[in-house]
Amino acid sequence: MADAKPFHWEFTPEAVTREVFRIEGGVPLRGEVPISGSKNAALKMFAAATLTGERCRFSNVPEIEDVRVMAETLRDLGVVVDHPEPNVYEIASGDVEWLFVPLEAAAKMRASFILLGPLLTRFGRVIISNPGGDRIGRRPVDLHVEAMRTLGATIEYRNGYYFATAPGRLRGTEVRFPFVSVMGTENAMLAATLADGHTVIRPAAQEPEVDDLIAFLQKMGADVARTFPDTIEVRGKRRLRGADHDVLPDRIEAGTFAIAGAVTGGQVTLTGAPCDHMTALLEVFARAGIEAECEADRIMIDGRHVADGGFRAVDIQTSPYPGLATDLQPPTCVLLTQAKGVSTVNEAIFEDRLEWLTELNRMGARVDINDNHHATIHGRTPLHGADAEIGDLRAGASLILAALAADGESTIHGAHHVQRGYENIERKFADLGARIARLEEGTDSTSS
Ligand code: EPZ
Repeated sequence: MADAKPFHWEFTPEAVTREVFRIEGGVPLRGEVPISGSKNAALKMFAAATLTGERCRFSNVPEIEDVRVMAETLRDLGVVVDHPEPNVYEIASGDVEWLFVPLEAAAKMRASFILLGPLLTRFGRVIISNPGGDRIGRRPVDLHVEAMRTLGATIEYRNGYYFATAPGRLRGTEVRFPFVSVMGTENAMLAATLADGHTVIRPAAQEPEVDDLIAFLQKMGADVARTFPDTIEVRGKRRLRGADHDVLPDRIEAGTFAIAGAVTGGQVTLTGAPCDHMTALLEVFARAGIEAECEADRIMIDGRHVADGGFRAVDIQTSPYPGLATDLQPPTCVLLTQAKGVSTVNEAIFEDRLEWLTELNRMGARVDINDNHHATIHGRTPLHGADAEIGDLRAGASLILAALAADGESTIHGAHHVQRGYENIERKFADLGARIARLEEGTDSTSS
């Protein structure tokens, strides 16, 4: 069986097609860009759909690699996943034959661990691979595992896998986290929807994607609500039903395009954007002196005064919502290279999320990485084209921003990281006037 899937001990990561972004920078971006559905909401909703045997339908799902990986992971479990038209998915989890989430899924996408809670609570058992870390740090899953144990599960860890069982139902209880975890909150909440009794989750993550997941669960008939800003309460039900849901817009993608407009000295309007969820970034814009106007679901950014040194340096610190998202730290750093003066960055969520700044320095930025959590940006430095290597999704989008703002040509290697989380990124930038192409690495048309 030449095409049989390897067992985990035979597992070697799939070879990816190496592609580059070739960018000729220096063009101020102009025009309107539509914002896609949120990656980090859609992935959790796909997992939530396994809580019922009935069909669930999702619209405004971003067409990105992580969504495809989640769909494939579910299909491997025996779940029916249909993709009837672009941005629409239908999921029916009547028969789940394999309660096993392999290393292959975890290696491609850490978010596969969100399947722990729903599979365990509905089927009473699951074997799931430890996703380990990634390029932004160690990223343990101890909080998820402890939450399941608190809810009554037995979990053993052997050979890289968690073997989780819960004969009968999980039991509602108080789940207390030592600090806020987005997926930890979501896993506990999903598990509690079918548990016996009342669960209180505290401190619960306040990210808008968590609230969108709550809205979907309520449509499924779950008794779940945010009762205080940092508290989610769930009263377990015996069954949930199928439901339809339109995924909320992606505030991280919106932030990325807003910064692209500003840093290239352009004028960009985001359509279908989640204004209400972007307060922290818009505050950074206000402090930096960048004009941004919100009107219902449109955000207008005017960065035309960047060239006369019109942006001011700002000190930023990432924190859980409603603070500045860690996923917006890398693009904000690009912005701050174009602000006059010294800006400081405190990356308070992840331990290795500043390393990519060495790539930004190759493009002419002057950034000192002081330690794992702190950096200093000396602005304003003109950026120039260069070869740079993408290490992870958000750093990748940020190197594209830097290349768009730079004079000359850049080749940004490792394009596949960006496809994980941004729908049609090069087409959206090209529609705003950017000179950008995605090319196969090593072909004559690239300079790798
Ligand atoms: C979610 O990751 C997002 N991923 C991340 O987006 C985002 O950066 C992060 O939240 C923070 O906003 C998805 O939603 C799929 P956490 P998550 O648990 O839930 C530590 C992107 O680019 N921790 O809130 O995994 C952890 O190491 C991605 O789209 C533990 O110590 O993040 C971190 O320091 C990257 N033990 C902190 O908590 C645990 O069991 C917060 O992480 C879990 C987390």
